[in-house]
Amino acid sequence: MRMNERVLTSARSDRCPGVSYSDMLAADTRPVPDCLFEETGQELGTAAIDTARYASEEFARAEREHLWPNVWQFAAREEDLPAPGDTVVYEIADKNYLLVRQEDGSIKAFHNVCLHRGRMLRDHGGPAVNLRCPFHGFTWNNDGSLKQVPCPWDFTHLEARDMALPEVRVERWQGFVMVTENRNLPGLRDWIGPGVEHYDRWRLDECHTAAWIGRVMPANWKATAEAFMEAFHAVVTHPQILGFTADANSRYDLYGDHMNRAITPNGALSPHVRGKGPDYVLASLSKFLGGDNKRRFAGNDEQQLDLAASDDPLVARKILAQANRDAFHAADGYDYEHFSDSEVLDNFTYNIFPNFAPWGGMVPNIVYRWRPWRDVDHCLMEVRILMRTPKGSNAPKAPDMFMIGDDAPFTSALHLIGEGLAGVFDQDLANLGAVQKGMKASANGRIELGLYQESRIRHFHATLDKYLSGALPA
Ligand code: FES
Ligand SMILES: [Fe+2]
Repeated sequence: MRMNERVLTSARSDRCPGVSYSDMLAADTRPVPDCLFEETGQELGTAAIDTARYASEEFARAEREHLWPNVWQFAAREEDLPAPGDTVVYEIADKNYLLVRQEDGSIKAFHNVCLHRGRMLRDHGGPAVNLRCPFHGFTWNNDGSLKQVPCPWDFTHLEARDMALPEVRVERWQGFVMVTENRNLPGLRDWIGPGVEHYDRWRLDECHTAAWIGRVMPANWKATAEAFMEAFHAVVTHPQILGFTADANSRYDLYGDHMNRAITPNGALSPHVRGKGPDYVLASLSKFLGGDNKRRFAGNDEQQLDLAASDDPLVARKILAQANRDAFHAADGYDYEHFSDSEVLDNFTYNIFPNFAPWGGMVPNIVYRWRPWRDVDHCLMEVRILMRTPKGSNAPKAPDMFMIGDDAPFTSALHLIGEGLAGVFDQDLANLGAVQKGMKASANGRIELGLYQESRIRHFHATLDKYLSGALPA
């Protein structure tokens, strides 16, 4: 930790003109951790990306073969299956896994397939006394050992066979239950690689799922994920957030093969908006958040005086950061006084390859997951909101995922995620169907990427290529 000097490692020099995120860190009211100051880039070239990667069944088949079985995947949160016997079914790209909480608190994951005639063993999660197949009744204990064979006189030939349910590897990290089929993959932290240690400070294992929604999106899983990897589209797609989101000041960092991040500052005016003061920033955020937050961020009389008197261009950030520290402490009893303004205010949109985005920092953390769904033209997008569990309490069991209908907007889930966020997702949704159609109709079959603001997308494809070519896993 250093107070607050700027560190650059391998940073490109081209940036949106004006105050940078690093400049904002330098003005933070608290010491800022090194991992926020350090800028990390990679030289990944400028080649166009082939649209067939998003639209061809052949490419999706290559992903099923080379990608999905060879990565660590976010399969569940701990609070999805808190009690012994609780189960979760996790399905992705023709694979199907059954997670079961054991008596000793550990979690096992099995291929969710009956060893009799191959029916899915369980159709959905929930509590289980044992694992009984609904077709003919073959039954396993929750630890995967065979319990009962119906009409055993007809199956004496199975006595010599290993009939335990085949397992897949499980690791637990920050409250996430991760699985992989690959026996040789490094352990999760080593596999994620540089950057994983950032989370040690943010402790998402102290959080629980407060809301969970899902929607089938009319675009390939990669196109959908990529719409959440850059803040570049905010100025045109989400103009309502520019009053309090410094979109073009976002920092983009790339780590190893499996992690990258964007940090988008909040509580500051977008560089695209001119001639507005800090009172406009607070008013814009209050309007966006609505409800109780409206009062919280409107600023008390003393703060209004501070605002009027201040010539600090970042004064709104400081007021909002302190408002968050106070509100978070009141809500969960943890002490936020030593956390930087940035960590209690900004969007830390981290991605862990390939389809998992657990936001960092101390704000209510969003977690995205994108799964191939139905065909190459669709995916299942899930959004969870993690809240810190009040100090001294146990995490409540996670709510079931609220599935939004195919024709329904995200605003049909505004009671869970708030009107502001739901409106943002509906704007993204409006793009994504048109993106998928456009890529299939493209004359040159290419998409182009900005060198900096879209560097995370290029990084993602570089790693994907390593899996598809067999260079990874090492
Ligand atoms: S397929 Fe499972 S019991 Fe027959
Ligand atoms: Fe967006």
